[in-house]
Amino acid sequence: MKKILVTGGLGFIGSHTVVELQNSGFKVIIIDDLSNSKIEVLDNITEITGVKPEFYKLDLKIKSNVLDFFKNKKIDGVIHFAAFKAVGESVQNPLDYYENNIGSLVYLLQGMRDNNIDNLIFSSSCTVYGQSDELPITENAPIKTAESPYGNTKQIGEEIIKESCKAYAMNAIALRYFNPIGAHPSIKIGELPLGIPQNLIPYITQTAAGIRKELSIFGNDYETPDGTAIRDYIHVVDLAKAHIAALNRLLEKKNTKSFNFFNIGTGIGTSVLEIIKTFEKCTGVNLNYKFVAKREGDVTSAFASTKNANEQLDWKAEKSLEEALLSAWKWQQKSNNV
Ligand code: UD1
Repeated sequence: MKKILVTGGLGFIGSHTVVELQNSGFKVIIIDDLSNSKIEVLDNITEITGVKPEFYKLDLKIKSNVLDFFKNKKIDGVIHFAAFKAVGESVQNPLDYYENNIGSLVYLLQGMRDNNIDNLIFSSSCTVYGQSDELPITENAPIKTAESPYGNTKQIGEEIIKESCKAYAMNAIALRYFNPIGAHPSIKIGELPLGIPQNLIPYITQTAAGIRKELSIFGNDYETPDGTAIRDYIHVVDLAKAHIAALNRLLEKKNTKSFNFFNIGTGIGTSVLEIIKTFEKCTGVNLNYKFVAKREGDVTSAFASTKNANEQLDWKAEKSLEEALLSAWKWQQKSNNV
């Protein structure tokens, strides 16, 4: 049984990926510092899969923690989710972002190098493209200067991994996520935003639940058919499955270059107003919303070309937007998070 280390394995995307890994027959070790996740998620993963993953509460910013962890462990691959991801917060506090997202990555790579572990999957983001001139966005689209320290940590992270792959004969794949949403169909795991949600879907579900008074739509004069911004929303379970496909590619030594990267989305662009209409239709709940000014740093439109992921990873997003929004709503009602 192949053993996979998942950092940030109790987080939103991490927990869904752990479930898919266990369902695919991998043995999972989770590291999480619980800074943006809850320990209960471990039990919920266990309930879904019938298997309790090995768990270590560990702060990856402390180098000795990371190097000690790797001693005497046989690990076949690493999926690295553990990172901060709030754009606005990163502008307020860039050094915390560089320390957490870059420092930890460097220590992790050192631990892998020193223990001859050479397969890494890295959580990257479509944010690396900024406002792309081409739509859908292919992997050949140029990387734009990052709009935020958070975005910069993803760009720098990819560079660090690419150079490490070259120097230390490691293999890695960066997955550039578009907008992950939804919850596991069991409704036992989902997104747990701390405080006021910054992302659209948790804000919508909290508004529908009466926790927030109304949703503010950031901008209605974008150059799009209805004036609101367009994104590529992907069900988190589909996204989780993309990690298994990427991991298998590495384990089967099919990676064409030592460092590869893929867009992970549905290929479909949906506007904020279309999201609201679809949410209202599939849940039967009406949303209070108002239009406000654009949010700084937001792009007009971003959706993925999925050709490379479809063909080279043999993976495809399968779940509908309705399914994703309905699962997010059920999760909201169950978790009642504030
Ligand atoms: C954001 C980040 C992105 C990051 C991702 C992580 C920015 C600019 N981008 O993506 O770098 O990888 O989160 O989760 O922050 N919206 C509203 N009202 C709201 C919230 C959002 O109208 O209350 C709109 C936004 O303007 C955007 C869309 O909804 O058009 C999606 O927003 P969001 O969920 O925050 O995702 P991104 O901004 O695409």
